[in-house]
Amino acid sequence: MSDLTIQLTDHPKAKPADESKLKFGDLFTDHMLMMDYDEGQGWHDARIVPYGPLALDPAAMCLHYGQEVFEGMKAYRAEDGRILLFRPEQNFARLNLSNDRLCIPPVDEDKMVEYLKEFLRVEKDWVPHSKDTSLYLRPFIIAIDPHLGVHSGKHYYFIVIASPVGAYYPEGLNPVSIYVETKYVRSVRGGTGFTKTAGNYSASLKAQSEAEEKHYTQVLWLDGVERRYIEEVGTMNVFFKIDGEIITPSLDGSILGGITRKSAIELMHSWGLKVTERRISIDELAEAYDAGKLEEAFGTGTAAVISPIGFLDWGDTKKMEIGGGKIGPVSQRLYDELTAIQWGRTKDPFGWSV
Ligand code: COI
Repeated sequence: MSDLTIQLTDHPKAKPADESKLKFGDLFTDHMLMMDYDEGQGWHDARIVPYGPLALDPAAMCLHYGQEVFEGMKAYRAEDGRILLFRPEQNFARLNLSNDRLCIPPVDEDKMVEYLKEFLRVEKDWVPHSKDTSLYLRPFIIAIDPHLGVHSGKHYYFIVIASPVGAYYPEGLNPVSIYVETKYVRSVRGGTGFTKTAGNYSASLKAQSEAEEKHYTQVLWLDGVERRYIEEVGTMNVFFKIDGEIITPSLDGSILGGITRKSAIELMHSWGLKVTERRISIDELAEAYDAGKLEEAFGTGTAAVISPIGFLDWGDTKKMEIGGGKIGPVSQRLYDELTAIQWGRTKDPFGWSV
C-alpha cells in the first residue's frame, strides 16, 4: 500500500461531451497529484487533491529564474477497458536527469510510477474512449522558496496534472511544413537542451512565432555553434530516411532524449532497418535531396507520436518537398505499430506497456 492520501473533489466537472473535438492541453481533470520537498525532510506528503490554483508567493523562485522541470506522458484506454501507460519508468528516469541539471532533488522513480497508477485509478473516467485520444499527463517540479537571490531552492512542489487530448497538430498524420531556422538556436552543448525544462521552450517561442507568420508549422533547429548540424524539429526529435538508411542526430548534450525517439529506434532495429545515430548537417540533407535520396523525414514525440515532414524551407538556399508531400512507409509503419502497442491493440513484444 502506498502512503498517498486522497481528498476527492465535491464538484466533479462534466467530461468532454464530444471527444472528436478534443484539442491538446486545454481541459483538465478533477484532481492533481502533489508532493512537497523541504530541505532536511526530503519529498513528503504525497497526496491526490482537487485540481485548482496554487497559492504561490510572488517571490517564488520558479517564477523568476525558471527552476522547473517537467515530463510529458500519456494514459491510453485499451478496447477491453484497461488503462495503459507507455514506458513510464523512462519518464521518471529522464525527470531525474533534468532534476540533476537544474539542481532539483531527485524523486524516487519507482514510487512515482506507483503514485501515478493510483492517480489514474482516481481519474480513470477521464481517459477518453475515442480513437487517437488519450489522457496527457504532465508531471512537473517547481522551486517555491520566496527568495530573489540566484540560488537553487530548498523547497519544491512536485505536481501531476492531466488533460484529455486529441491530436497535437491539427494536421494529424498529414505532413507538416517546416522552416529551417538559421537565426535563433534552441540550445548549445553544456546548456540544458537534453533536459525538459521550461526555459528550453520559452527560448523556442520567437522562432516558432516567426515560422508561423510565414505559414510554417514549426522550425528545424540547427546546432548553436556551427549552425549546420540538425538537432530537433519543433519540440520533437527528427529522423531522415536517406537511401534506405534511417539517420537521426546523436544525443550529444543539446538534444532531448525522447522516449518515442528511443522506442522508434528499437522498433526499426527489430524490423531489420539500418538506423544510425550521428551528426547530420543541413548541407548533407540538401545534397541527399538533390541526388533524389532523401526518401522520408519525420518528427517523433509523445504528443504527436509521429509527425511526417512534407516540406523543408531553407530560405534562399533550398526548398525541399519530401515524399511528394505524402506520409512515407516507414513513418506510417512506425505510427501504426507504436500506437498499436500504446493503445493495447497488439501484443507488446518489448514489455513497454504498463
Ligand atoms: C512532445 O511530446 O513531443 C513535446 O515535447 C510537446 C510537449 C512539450 C507539449
